[in-house]
Amino acid sequence: MKHGVSGKTLGGGVFCHYNIQMIQNSASIILAAGKGTRMKSSLPKVLHQIAGQPMIHHVTTACQDAGIADMHIIIGPDMDSLASAVTPHKTHTQKEQLGTGDAVKAAKDALHNFEGYIFILYGDVPFIHPETLENLYNAATKTGMAILGFEAANPHGYGRLITSGTTVTEIVEEKDCTDAQRLVTLCNAGGYCVDGRRLFAWLDQLSDDNAQKEYYLTDIVSIAAKEGVKCAYAIAEEAEVMGINSRAQLAIAEKTLQSKLRTQAMANGVTMIDPDTVYLSTDTAFGQDVIIEPNVFFGTGVRIGSNTHIHAFSHIEGAEIGDHSSVGPFARIRPQSKIGNHATVGNFIEVNRSEFKDGSKSKHLSYIGDAVIGEKANIGAGTVIANYDGFNKNDTTVGVGAFIGSNSTLIAPLTIGDGAIIAGGSVITQNVATDAMAIARPDTTIKPGAAAEYRQKKGKKK
Ligand code: UD1
Ligand code: MG
Repeated sequence: MKHGVSGKTLGGGVFCHYNIQMIQNSASIILAAGKGTRMKSSLPKVLHQIAGQPMIHHVTTACQDAGIADMHIIIGPDMDSLASAVTPHKTHTQKEQLGTGDAVKAAKDALHNFEGYIFILYGDVPFIHPETLENLYNAATKTGMAILGFEAANPHGYGRLITSGTTVTEIVEEKDCTDAQRLVTLCNAGGYCVDGRRLFAWLDQLSDDNAQKEYYLTDIVSIAAKEGVKCAYAIAEEAEVMGINSRAQLAIAEKTLQSKLRTQAMANGVTMIDPDTVYLSTDTAFGQDVIIEPNVFFGTGVRIGSNTHIHAFSHIEGAEIGDHSSVGPFARIRPQSKIGNHATVGNFIEVNRSEFKDGSKSKHLSYIGDAVIGEKANIGAGTVIANYDGFNKNDTTVGVGAFIGSNSTLIAPLTIGDGAIIAGGSVITQNVATDAMAIARPDTTIKPGAAAEYRQKKGKKK
């Protein structure tokens, strides 16, 4: 980790900045114990990624952005990978999947004395906005609980919100609906905000006397109503509360979020020649006047400065790139790399855990691994830094203004001094001092007239 990306903050990142009041004194329970059978995957469903982030992180980020720092994730047995992915948030294991109401009970020991409001969210509904959580909270604090609803284009499969004025009197699951209820298009989005002092007492009254023989969380609405607590509701857009149950829905979610991230990046002053071919992560940050050519992929942890040009077909992850620099076409910048200002990493260059200081260049066909390239140094075409000896990775330093001739191999560990020159085609195995010249290639032998003689000899044989 020697060339870690610095904490420099660049303006105009694609991060969303929400204009909301932070929700005080609340906690959330995020349900993620479901097996996600329709994903046909050995990975828990909520660990599948959207724009470089596991699905569940989108939900935890929304909670964080809304001010809900105390999060409790409900996981299934054998979901250790999920537990570590959501660290430092608390996890609780639901031993058997007896329904969403039973899942919430897994957080009972941790939260039954909680004196504020508790949000209950689904880990496979990743695009919920912090503003929506705020709306839900504002609705809940008026009555004691609120549910998030949406108008479904096709309500099939969703629980229906049965309302009376501004109150939800009951939620009826698709399989339990009467014919009349099935026609209702106002559906349960899977977001709840409930008075924490009463939630667990209501959950204790749930029964599994329904079509699916499950403990439905949704039944707390009618249980609360019997105790005189009205359930308010807030409304979200359907796209915001889309649930992800299959790979096809995952692809739709990716497409939706990519489009949003590109639009935000362009609004912040990034030019994209063909936006639909540029793939971003939720944390990709840009300065102003960056130009991105077609077919560029940004993995997580990338920050690009201002006036930098990313040429076509480049793949960049975990790297910081400064101002007025040029990357690609066909560059691969791997994690823990840093490209300074006015630097060039040209075509077919792979940079791995390395730093290019300001004004340095590597324009063609090179591998740069575990290296620091000094200011204004020039790495010639075809240079390979041999950082791996088959057992260990070794470091290389190239000094300020040094010149590495084309097709050189620098065998690490190695230090090339400031202003040193390496002759083209050299294989360098020893440190080279400041301002020294190293030539490490066979001498050239010249035989006058030998080419003509050779041609003649071959010609005769024919
Ligand atoms: C649920 C709602 C429905 C709503 C829909 C919105 C209930 C009873 N129904 O239905 O009203 O319209 O979501 O998408 O809540 N989970 C557990 N443990 C369990 C069961 C589920 O952790 O025992 C988790 C799942 O991992 C998932 C979430 O709870 O994240 C929702 O479960 P799911 O089975 O998908 O509920 P739906 O039938 O979609
Ligand atoms: Mg579902």
